[in-house]
Amino acid sequence: MARKQFHLSWFLSQGYGPKGWRGPWPGSDTARWMMPDLFVDLARSLERACFDYLIIEDSSMLPYQFNGSHDTYLKYAASTPKLDPSVLVAYLAQATKHLGIIPTLSTSEYPPFLLARLINSFDHVTEGRIGWNCVTSSNDGAAQNYGHDGQLPHDERYDRAEEFTDLVTKLWDAWEPDAVLLDRDTPMFADGSKVHVVNHEGRYFRCRGPLNAPRSPQGRPPICQAGGSARGQLFAARWADTIIADAGNPEAMKRYRDTVRRNAVAAGRDPDSIKVLFLANPVIDTTLAAAQERRRMQQADANQHLDMQLANMSRLTNIDFATFDPDEPLQGLETNGHQSALAKWIGKTPRQLGMNQAVKQGLDLTGTADHVAGIMAEMMEEVGGDGFLFFNATFDRRYVIELCDGLVPELQRRGLTRTVYEHSLFKDNLMAF
Ligand SMILES: Cc1cc2nc3c(=O)[nH]c(=O)nc-3n(C[C@H](O)[C@H](O)[C@H](O)COP(=O)(O)O)c2cc1C
Repeated sequence: MARKQFHLSWFLSQGYGPKGWRGPWPGSDTARWMMPDLFVDLARSLERACFDYLIIEDSSMLPYQFNGSHDTYLKYAASTPKLDPSVLVAYLAQATKHLGIIPTLSTSEYPPFLLARLINSFDHVTEGRIGWNCVTSSNDGAAQNYGHDGQLPHDERYDRAEEFTDLVTKLWDAWEPDAVLLDRDTPMFADGSKVHVVNHEGRYFRCRGPLNAPRSPQGRPPICQAGGSARGQLFAARWADTIIADAGNPEAMKRYRDTVRRNAVAAGRDPDSIKVLFLANPVIDTTLAAAQERRRMQQADANQHLDMQLANMSRLTNIDFATFDPDEPLQGLETNGHQSALAKWIGKTPRQLGMNQAVKQGLDLTGTADHVAGIMAEMMEEVGGDGFLFFNATFDRRYVIELCDGLVPELQRRGLTRTVYEHSLFKDNLMAF
C-alpha cells in the first residue's frame, strides 16, 4: 500500500532579520541582511523541493523584558532587528511560482480593513499563493508601540481576534466571484449588484466595506494559527486551515493533532481541512557522527550564552528571568503572554530551561538524510499526519541546501513528499493530501 504523503513547510524564525551571522558559514553578503537575497535563495530552494509554504515570523518591538533593557536582545540580534514581512513577500512572490507565502500580521496591530486589503492584494499578485499567519501578539512592548499600556488579557485577545477574523473574511467574500464583467460595450466593468456592503457593527470593530478590489484567486486565503492554550486551540478550530505546533515527541504530537481534529468536528468542520504541521529543527550531515557533532556545538553555544536563552523566554512571557536564581525551580508564575510555553517551564530551573531552549525547541531530527527521512516517516505513521515545519533561527545557505537537496530528495524517493505541485492555488496544494 502506498504511504500517505505529508507536507513540508518552513518557518522563517525571527522574521525578516539577520541570519547566521555568528555561524560557521555566514555567507559573503551577511552585512547586507536587509536585502532580500538570502530569503529569495531560500524560497527558490523550498520551491525546488516542493514545500507547501514559507511563513515569515514577525513581531513589532525591540524587546526589553530581560533585565529591563534591550541590550541583550541587541547583543545577539535576538528577535530583533526585523524589517516588515510584507516587503519581503513582494520579492519572494516574484522569485517563485508555486510556493505558498505566509506573512505574520497581528490582529492586535492591524486594523481589519487594512489587513483584509493587503492579503487580498497579495493574493491577486501572487495568483493565489498567499496565506495569513494570524497572531494576537503577546509582548507588551509591541502594544506600547501602538499606543496601549500593554496587551489585552490573554483570552480577550482571542475574543477580539474572532471578531477581527470574522470581519476580514466578510470583506474577502464581499465581491461575488463573477462580479467583474469587463464588458466594454455596455459598458460594465463590474456589476454593482454582485458587490455587497458589509456593514459590520461589533464589540470591537465597525466597518462599512466592501473591499475596493475584486475577490482574489483563493477568495479566502489559508489562515495559519499557532495558539497552544485552550482558548488558542478553540480559535484555531474555527478559523485555521493550517496549525503550526511545537510538540516534543510523537506521543505529544498525536495528542495535539487528535485534539485539533476533535475541536474541528465540534466546530462543524471536516478535520481533514486543518493541516497540523510540527516544528522541527533538523541537522543533516554526511555521517551520523558529523550531524551529532553539529548538534553538540549548538548545545555548547546555548550553554555559553545562557543570557540569550533567558532573554528569549522573557520576550515570550513579559517575565524578567534575570531576577530569578538560575538554579531554583520556577513556580507560581503567570503570564499574559505565551501561556502554553510557560506551563511547560514550571518546575524546572532557569538554567535547565535556558540550556534546553536553543536545541530542544522543535523535534530533534539529527543524522544523515537517509536516517532522518526514516525517523520522519515513522513519526508520521504514528501521529497520522500532517507534516513538518522546519526552522533554524540562524540558518545559512549551506543549511538550506542540506535540507532541500539532501533530505527532501530522500523523502521524495520514499514517496513521502510531493515531487511536483499539482495545483496552481496554494490552498489546493495544502488540501491535496
Ligand atoms: C511555530 C510558532 C510560530 C509562531 N509565530 C509567531 C509570530 O510570528 N508572531 C507572533 O506574534 N507569535 C507567533 N507565535 C505565537 C502564537 O501566535 C501564540 O501567541 C503562542 O503560541 C501562544 O499561544 P497561546 O497563548 O494560545 O498559548 C508562534 C508560535 C509558534 C508555536
